[in-house]
Amino acid sequence: MVPGIVSYLLLVRYLKWLSVNAKSFNVGSYRRADTPQPTADFFDTGNAEGERLRRAAAEAAVHDMLHWFEHEGGHVGILDATNSTRSRRAWIEERCKSKGYDVMFVESKCDDEELIMNNILEVKTTSPDYIGQDPEVAARDFRDRIRNYEKVYETIDEPHLTYVKLINVSSQVIINQVSNYLQTRIIYFAMNLHITPRSIWLSRHGESEFNVLGKLGGDANLSPRGMAYAEALPGLVKGSVGNKDITLWTSTMKRTIQTVKHLNYPKKQWKALDELDAGVCDGLTYEEIEKKYPEDFRARDDDKYNYRYQAGESYRDVVIRLEPIIMEMERGSDIMVVTHQAILRCIYAYFMNVPQDQSPWMEIPLHTVIKLTPRAYGTQEERFKANIPAVSTFRAKYTSANMGGETAIVDAERVKSPIARAQANGVTTINGDVEAAPQKVEAISVAESLGLNDDTVVVE
Ligand SMILES: *[C@@H]1O[C@H](CO)[C@@H](O)[C@H](O)[C@H]1NC(C)=O
Ligand SMILES: *[C@@H]1O[C@H](CO)[C@@H](O)[C@H](O)[C@H]1NC(C)=O
Repeated sequence: MVPGIVSYLLLVRYLKWLSVNAKSFNVGSYRRADTPQPTADFFDTGNAEGERLRRAAAEAAVHDMLHWFEHEGGHVGILDATNSTRSRRAWIEERCKSKGYDVMFVESKCDDEELIMNNILEVKTTSPDYIGQDPEVAARDFRDRIRNYEKVYETIDEPHLTYVKLINVSSQVIINQVSNYLQTRIIYFAMNLHITPRSIWLSRHGESEFNVLGKLGGDANLSPRGMAYAEALPGLVKGSVGNKDITLWTSTMKRTIQTVKHLNYPKKQWKALDELDAGVCDGLTYEEIEKKYPEDFRARDDDKYNYRYQAGESYRDVVIRLEPIIMEMERGSDIMVVTHQAILRCIYAYFMNVPQDQSPWMEIPLHTVIKLTPRAYGTQEERFKANIPAVSTFRAKYTSANMGGETAIVDAERVKSPIARAQANGVTTINGDVEAAPQKVEAISVAESLGLNDDTVVVE
């Protein structure tokens, strides 16, 4: 038995981003309701009371998961548990199969002691079981708990079960009896996850000539202020990039390529990073769209995520074409992405776990770099704002199309608003605005800590 390296919270986030209704059922949090901060001997197989409570917790979690499938349209339930024995797997298989649900087991096996300790320090010392305790003591206690799991641990090798076994993160991957598409997606995702620290820098292109005119789409050049942003960009990211070997990704459009002109990193252009295709509305202003296609204008506000421009795309379409990009980002190097507003909304929503009804309305201001640092327990965010004015291309829901032009300068309030939104979603802001240029705003999304291994993914 070994500590889990696959984060089931990340898997839930990924599936939800792809519009798959997913939820994690963590046996530990059921058990925690009765025993908030147990010591390692609670997990000793010889401790009868501990055993009884842990079994009751597992039963409650499975019960709730099956209820969720049946009554709340659940699609992929993740049972996050630690009793890695043949008889327990047979029990789970039986409970789920009797209701007609497919079961896939995921075992993350690791005998690299250094990886284990790193994982414990990064993840487990932030676990609710150890809140307020000395991290060193917590880590040692957790290592003892693992030894108790190891006593009963039986690696998965039942030939008839569907399973994936990830060894030493994903140095070796063993796959057995995989039977459907969703299972292969989950395996592919788990294989791409890793635990090396890295960051992702995101920026929109500099202000373009179309932005100034309030026009959508097109393939325009940067405006003079956009060019000034391109010149300021190396200085803006220098402090946070340091001497890291980053790769720079842009779309295939002139405005993103011109924006990275002065950055000296290896560059790669992706068609998948091109702006959301506005179809028949490409090259029009919002005012013109409101006049020419009033029903479309309204329909888009009603359901912006699903609305597809005539002969163009919806946000949902964009997410599908961005999936390989996200997978590539998960593989783990430091990357800077310079692309477009709608594309950045989708990428940001993935990393910051923003729900679909909100993500298309997020403000991603021009002339601002957003640095995201994925951690085991969530994503850390910092913003660096260049002090170069730009038009705002943001239009709020059900507002008339009168934006754009020289008057709508991005101001400090607008830059702050995504953080305010994050706070409304339970995200803690760590720093406020820092006065000096470049301005820096930081937020950390706090999620529950990871679970252990031998988790059961049930795919309906
Ligand atoms: C582990 O699973 C077995 C088989 O289902 C069960 O008998 C045992 O009580 C479980 N132990 C715990 C601590 O949940
Ligand atoms: C996992 O890592 C350990 C320690 O480095 C090594 O001894 C073991 O052979 C590795 N196993 C695999 C399957 O890579």
